[in-house]
Order: sequence, then structure tokens, then C-alpha cells
Amino acid sequence: MDYFQILNLQREPFSNSPEPDFFFQSDQHRGCLQKLELAVRLRRGLNVVIGEVGTGKTTLCRRLILNFSSAEKDGIETHLILDPSFSNTQEFLSAVALLLGLPRSADGESEWQLKENIKNYLFRKGIDESRTVVLLIDEGQKLPDFCLEILREFLNYETNEYKLLQIVIFAQKEFAEVLKSYANFADRVNQYYFLKPFNFRDTRAMIRFRIAKASGVDAAAPALFTFPALWAMEKARTEPRWNLAAAENLEFRHALECPLDHLQRAPSSLPILALHCVLLKRHEVGLNDAGDLSLDD
Ligand SMILES: Nc1ncnc2c1ncn2[C@@H]1O[C@H](COP(=O)(O)OP(=O)(O)O)[C@@H](O)[C@H]1O
Ligand SMILES: [Mg+2]
Repeated sequence: MDYFQILNLQREPFSNSPEPDFFFQSDQHRGCLQKLELAVRLRRGLNVVIGEVGTGKTTLCRRLILNFSSAEKDGIETHLILDPSFSNTQEFLSAVALLLGLPRSADGESEWQLKENIKNYLFRKGIDESRTVVLLIDEGQKLPDFCLEILREFLNYETNEYKLLQIVIFAQKEFAEVLKSYANFADRVNQYYFLKPFNFRDTRAMIRFRIAKASGVDAAAPALFTFPALWAMEKARTEPRWNLAAAENLEFRHALECPLDHLQRAPSSLPILALHCVLLKRHEVGLNDAGDLSLDD
């Protein structure tokens, strides 16, 4: 039995994948999403979202794609580069051409030809068909200089009113430094968004939201976590590659099957502290009727 079934939930509430469905719109995420949507619709060109690991950039990016997928009628098409660690210009241009669905010739194209094909595509879509082409780049801190140079060239394709390619880059903080040393590119940024780690209030609201989603009912989420557990989770948020500390790691699943007295030893890490609190809470409120949990007094 999965741990979430033990908790009477229908789905895993804290999966570590960036599921747009589980995207909790804190004020800053909602604001960022709205501004990005607007900038894309107004065809302003380049937008950059910067934040530490775990601040929700990838989830936000997926959510944006989802929002635009229902905007197909508005003529918006999205293309995503998950990891831009390209080793040369040719490779990058070929990847973009492939994403845009451009036909390839058997002998391969020169850099010049690839750029021409991409340019023609953008003019055809943007002007003849009035469509909006969006290129989203996650892990933008990995963009090599030659890619920035190409993206800068793409941003030169424009009419008097708008850019023909919309670019949204999601990147970790190092990218801010890269931009400082590349003024030519930084000049093109329409808007920057800085995502801060959640504060306590948002952490608590997000956890409630995700549990409610996972329980499959719109009613208020069952209160599975105590105050100290929530506190522990907020602190854990700043850890590298943070995934909601209480639930998603193996320690948690393993520990759920442990008798409570195993956990009453001093918690060795924040996730375990959080888990400890979950179990104590379950113990208190008598939710622990699953046979395999020996949470006796
Ligand atoms: N606003 C949010 N709503 C729901 N879950 C979030 C949110 N922000 C982050 N998370 C969760 O935190 C983890 C890391 O998010 P992710 O989008 O991969 O961050 P980043 O790309 O900034 O490193 C994922 O498990 C994700 O589901
Ligand atoms: Mg990410």
C-alpha cells in the first residue's frame, strides 16, 4: 500500500515532478504567470525568470505551456528546451529547427541555411498567419554564450510593433551574473521576474492545496501536519533540489512502516523531523488504523 493511500488520499500529494496540476499559485507565482502571459500575448520578445533551485520555475514553465495549450485558438504555439547544454551553434540551431518542425535535408544544413529556415518560419507564422511562436528555455543558466548570441539574433526579427519570436528563459541565480557580462543580450530583456523561496504562510497554503488536490475533493484538506512539521518543511525548502520534505522521499515511505518508537529518537534531519510530526499528529487524532503501523500508546 502506498503511503498516500494510508493517508486516505487518491494521489501522491508530493511527487517531485513539476506537475502543473499541483501548481499552487502564491501571489508571486500568480503575478509572474500573469505577466508572462501578457508579455507573450503582446509579443514583447524576451522575458527572464530567475530563482533558486526549488522555487517553482519548472512547475511555472509547465503551467504556462498548459495555459497556452488551451489558447491554441489564439494562435499561440509553445516549444520547450528542457536543457540547453549545447556544444556548438550548429547543434543549437538544429535543435530549434527540429522543435519548430522544419523539414531537414538529407545532407544536413549549414548554419546559415538553418538560420534562414528559422527566420522564414518566424516571418511566415508571425506575419502571414498572425501566430505567436514561443520558445521556452528551462535551466537557462546552462545556456552557452553562442546560444545567447543566436537568441539575440532571433530577437532582431521583428515588425514595427512586435517581435516574431517570444522567448522565456527560466534560470538559476547564476544567470543574473551571465547577463551582467553580456549587456547586448541583457538590453533585450522585456521583464525580469525574481522568484523568492516560499515564506511560512505560502508553504502552509501550498501544502494544504496539494493535499486537497490529492484527496480529490474540493473540501478543505485534512490537517495532516502539525505546526512544527510545517515549520520544518519551510526550512527544508532552501535545501538543494528540495522536494516537499515531509512526504516524497524514501526515508518517509520507509519510516511510515516503522513503529513510532523508532522515530522517537532525535530526528536526524528536517524531513525526518517533519515526518515525526506527521506521525505524532496521526497518532493524536487516531487516524492510524492501518494495520501495518504499530503506533500503540
Ligand atoms: N508553486 C508551487 N506549487 C506547487 N508545487 C511547487 C510550487 N513551487 C515548487 N513546487 C514543488 O517544489 C518542487 C520543485 O519545484 P520546481 O518547479 O522543480 O523548482 P525549480 O525548477 O525552481 O528548481 C517540485 O516538487 C514542485 O512540485
Ligand atoms: Mg527547474
